[in-house]
Amino acid sequence: MTVRAVTLHVNGETRTFDIRPETPLLYILRNDFGLNGPKYGCGLGECGACAVLVDGRAVRSCVLKAGAAEGRRVVTLEGLGTPEAPHPVQAAFIESQAAQCGYCMNGMIIAAAGLLNRDPHPDEAAIRKALSHHLCRCGTHMEILAAVRRAAD
Ligand code: FES
Repeated sequence: MTVRAVTLHVNGETRTFDIRPETPLLYILRNDFGLNGPKYGCGLGECGACAVLVDGRAVRSCVLKAGAAEGRRVVTLEGLGTPEAPHPVQAAFIESQAAQCGYCMNGMIIAAAGLLNRDPHPDEAAIRKALSHHLCRCGTHMEILAAVRRAAD
């Protein structure tokens, strides 16, 4: 494909880039918007570290073409809340001290926020399903589950 203008709406900011539309959205978020919430883990849609919300649903930005995000509302970890007013999921992860190395936190928090967008009071099975394809190499899964339960209360 050739280069063309691609307009993206990210965290309330609208910017246009002359890019190949098949460029992974993750690259534009990190390299052009300067957002480091979404992480590069596997680059294959397998680990979940790069997750962002697109129209309120969690998606993996390493396998989403930037051109496919045009006209949609993209929210990254930075756009969920602020240090002064964190999103309920962010607050619950802090209160539950769910992070160890922190690399998976972006994906876990975005997945939980996406889950609560569609189901404000998910049961245990729904929480586990929403997080099941997000890898955590530290093994802090119990604290993560506790944080999502807290956010869903
Ligand atoms: Fe996107 Fe692993 S970096 S799923």
